[in-house]
Amino acid sequence: MASTNSTYLDSNSHLNPVDGYRKKIAEDLAPITGKPAAEIFERLAWTQTLDKGDLTLAVPALRIQGKKPNEQAQEFGAQYPESSLIEKPTVAGSFIQFFFKPQPLAQHIIPLILKEKQHYGKNYSLGLRDPKDPSSGQKTVIVEFSSPNIAKPFHAGHLRSTIIGGFLANLYEAAGWKVIRMNYLGDWGRQFGLLANAYQMYGDKEKLKTDPIGHLFDIYVQINKVTGPEEDLIKEKKEQLKQLEERKENTEALEADIAALVAKSENEKARQYFKRLEGGDEEARKQWREFRDLSIAKYEKTYARLNIHYDVYSGESQVEMWRMDRAVEELEKSGLSEESKGAIIVDLTKSKDKNIKKLGKALVKKSDGSSLYLTRDLGEAVKRHELYNFDKMIYVVSSQQDVHVTQLFKILELMGRNEVSDKCVFVNFGMVLGMSTRRGTVKFLDDILRDVGENMHDVMKRNEKKYEQVENPKETADTLGISAVMVQDMSGKRINNYDFSLERMCSFEGDTGPYLQYAHARLCSITRKAQLSAADLASADLTLLKESHAINLIRVLATWPDQLQQALKTLEPTTVLNYLFKMTHMLSSSYDHLQVVGSEFELQKARMALYEAARQVLNNGMRLLGLNPVER
Ligand code: ARG
Repeated sequence: MASTNSTYLDSNSHLNPVDGYRKKIAEDLAPITGKPAAEIFERLAWTQTLDKGDLTLAVPALRIQGKKPNEQAQEFGAQYPESSLIEKPTVAGSFIQFFFKPQPLAQHIIPLILKEKQHYGKNYSLGLRDPKDPSSGQKTVIVEFSSPNIAKPFHAGHLRSTIIGGFLANLYEAAGWKVIRMNYLGDWGRQFGLLANAYQMYGDKEKLKTDPIGHLFDIYVQINKVTGPEEDLIKEKKEQLKQLEERKENTEALEADIAALVAKSENEKARQYFKRLEGGDEEARKQWREFRDLSIAKYEKTYARLNIHYDVYSGESQVEMWRMDRAVEELEKSGLSEESKGAIIVDLTKSKDKNIKKLGKALVKKSDGSSLYLTRDLGEAVKRHELYNFDKMIYVVSSQQDVHVTQLFKILELMGRNEVSDKCVFVNFGMVLGMSTRRGTVKFLDDILRDVGENMHDVMKRNEKKYEQVENPKETADTLGISAVMVQDMSGKRINNYDFSLERMCSFEGDTGPYLQYAHARLCSITRKAQLSAADLASADLTLLKESHAINLIRVLATWPDQLQQALKTLEPTTVLNYLFKMTHMLSSSYDHLQVVGSEFELQKARMALYEAARQVLNNGMRLLGLNPVER
């Protein structure tokens, strides 16, 4: 290779080959256009389809005075120097299209992928405080995701948060950030008093041990059957009281009646229990801790099936009282809060800023002095900053909580905690419609995964011949089922709602999880049949890859690191998924043209090197999304 090539394609482009090309084109164009290379570098964009080039430059974006953009484009294109890396540019209107020369590209990309393996595409320098200085230290990001509520169902919002959050955590890791995966459990509040009392009445030690999440949910449902009628009766009596008051009749007896009902109600007992818990009562804390620990142990097992492991199980219970008091004090000091009927509120409707105004009023302290969801979040955000000194914190929460999270960020900012709010990012997402399975409505993550796994198993059985080849059909069905759920979830933009469809997600046709898995397994099968060694692949003559199918595939493989960088901007799993589907579609139309077995040996080696590179990229992409690629 000429020395100019190595400058652009080896050292500088070690991590992102397309950046090497950008640099080369930018430097070539700088003297021609009179614009700084750095600016041109930024303007060199991807193309939608390969026939439009590998990179394209919109000349008007350079804002050069004088001639019309179309004429400028013509001139610049004509003046572009002869290069060993890039074809003579094509000019289309005011766009200049650049095509990479196939040979040097193939000879750079394939060996690069085979050498970097699972690291290809990652760029660890992006997470450095100073990307040019490895000793500057990593930046830290907290990704808070999943965050279910103990004793309540794991609903679609939690499912999406788990999937999207897991991906984001992997993405930041691939960019060299130090990632703290955090689960913020709903593990506090009066419902824990209710739960503890319910456990005394209906609890079963064994069941709690074997299935804590299910059991706690069951007894929670059971006690709610008692509290429901109790509360209805109290409400009814209160209505009667109102009427008596209106008629100015004697209310004493009825008032006493209501007081007695309230006093012996389960909700009141729960309130008292929770008060003891918040006050640090030993026994209450011990019981609560057991519920929490057992639930976490169970959650961990389920998350492991999705390749997710948390660094921290935080939760609403973990916010100390003094932190919430401090938050309320800071609000008072900044003049943001006010009293309203004994409670403390932040009235954002008073703001002149339209965007703040629409956030409404937020309650931060109830009249009985107890704290709220929002107050806990305020305390927790500052606590996390003090503990982890993060550079970024991502909340992966359903768009149903848009107001809550936006209020949280805004209030942090207005109360003077900019050092925290400036670093907070809200990653929201739409709803899953009709998430029910054969057994009815879904309650827990385990139920969802089991049902999808069973459905997947049925779909696999439909193809008898292939089914027989699978060694552990049940296990494979499980893995494919998980991929099916995850891919369906990540297919569209996050904010879109989607329909939960077992049939569609489990299909091997269309852009589904099983399709991606099939593509991966097929590449593995080609590898098994070809029986070539790593040395064979390393010695392959890549100039033999002349067919347009091969070249286009290489061009797409070269953009993988760029895709990853793009995903860091969009924070959309679909950015990665779309790429993987584009690549696998190209692969499946290549097999007939680029056969391995049956071809002449040198050609076998070259094509196998290409397929191995493609398999590696597919594997890297799937793992980034949190999928477990299968080999058969
Ligand atoms: N546990 C909450 C729920 O299920 C979600 C928590 C979201 N995170 C937060 N920091 N508020 O609705």
